[in-house]
Amino acid sequence: MKILVTGGAGFIGANFINYMLREHPEDKIVCLDCLTYAGNLANLKDAFANKNFLFVRGNISDRLLIDAFFEKEKFDTVVNFAAESHVDRSITNPTIFLETNIMGTAALLDAGRKHKIKRFHQVSTDEVYGDLPLDRDDLFFTEETPIHTSSPYSASKAAADLLVLAYHRTYGMPVTVSRCSNNYGPYQFPEKLIPLMIQKALADEKLPVYGNGLNIRDWLYVEDHCRAIDMIIRNGREGEIYNVGGHNEKQNIEVVRTVLARMGKSEELISYVADRAGHDLRYAIDPTKIHRELGWLPETAFDDGIKMTIDWYLDNTDWLDDIRTGAYSYYNETEGNRFVLG
Ligand code: NAD
Ligand code: DAU
Repeated sequence: MKILVTGGAGFIGANFINYMLREHPEDKIVCLDCLTYAGNLANLKDAFANKNFLFVRGNISDRLLIDAFFEKEKFDTVVNFAAESHVDRSITNPTIFLETNIMGTAALLDAGRKHKIKRFHQVSTDEVYGDLPLDRDDLFFTEETPIHTSSPYSASKAAADLLVLAYHRTYGMPVTVSRCSNNYGPYQFPEKLIPLMIQKALADEKLPVYGNGLNIRDWLYVEDHCRAIDMIIRNGREGEIYNVGGHNEKQNIEVVRTVLARMGKSEELISYVADRAGHDLRYAIDPTKIHRELGWLPETAFDDGIKMTIDWYLDNTDWLDDIRTGAYSYYNETEGNRFVLG
């Protein structure tokens, strides 16, 4: 297969590329990423050493570039990770979320349709379902749960999902959609809960917990998500949505305490701060469909995954420091611009 991975310099995309190059040495992987603040070429340093990997710097919303790129590369499969992904940023600046997450996805769909790709996979999120109450642990998101978004981020992801599914129904385009719960693992940008807390704890700074810390997220180790997507693009049914999650619900405060304990830091660093506007209460995925149809199950228990994750950040403080100082964006500019198409 020749696979286009968009957004592959970000957290999950980079983990996916590393996973695919390792698990499928017969496949060719092309990464398209415009290197926003969330993209980091250092995440792909192993991939750059692989002859089956190509990086191209470009924006998924740039229709001329995308069309020429598809014409030249003749992909079989597109896996679209590229997105603005942080809820807090969507609250302060929604516009870029609409441009990238909706219009960018539309541009990729049009190119994929014109160039007759065999599979378009949209990497979506459980946030499209809105939230569940805290006192109903019998309720889970299934693929039939109605879309009911809360933030500009989740609304933009839901709009993209609907477009992808519309291209299947209207044009017969071979699409699939995955909706995953919160990922954690190496290379996650330290604006998201777990790496932010690790970074703050390392610096003995206050750890900002929104509201009362009782909101619940359903955590999945990133490599389990990557394996799910791999299974879906190979064996998933066209036009279908697959929820991905591992029944790993934790209150935010539990996660923060786990990080502090593993790092040998005091809980006095915890600081309760103003709540996020529109803060979703609880996410919880029912993964029955992907288990039944594709045999997917998570392989990494939270206790193991969180240890591996914390250890990775502690072993890679240079990676965190380069983000804190901005050195990574200088590196992106100098190196990344060598890979601009045309
Ligand atoms: P991320 O923010 O770490 O990475 C996003 C990547 O997309 C970056 O490399 C960035 O440079 C690139 N990008 C952004 N705009 C682009 C554009 N216009 N053109 C080309 N590249 C662009 O995100 P992530 O956490 O890795 O999430 C990846 C995908 O998975 C997103 O679609 C997100 O909605 C989805 N998702 C994330 C999670 C999670 O827990 N992080 C869970 C479920 C689904
Ligand atoms: O569920 C999947 C989604 O998970 C993805 O679609 C998003 O791209 C991803 O960012 C993530 O969204 P969340 O909003 O759940 O993740 P975040 O890490 O921003 O926050 C997790 C929880 O922690 C949430 O309840 C808010 C809280 N939080 C977050 C930050 C950054 C804090 O209490 N303090 C913080 O400083």
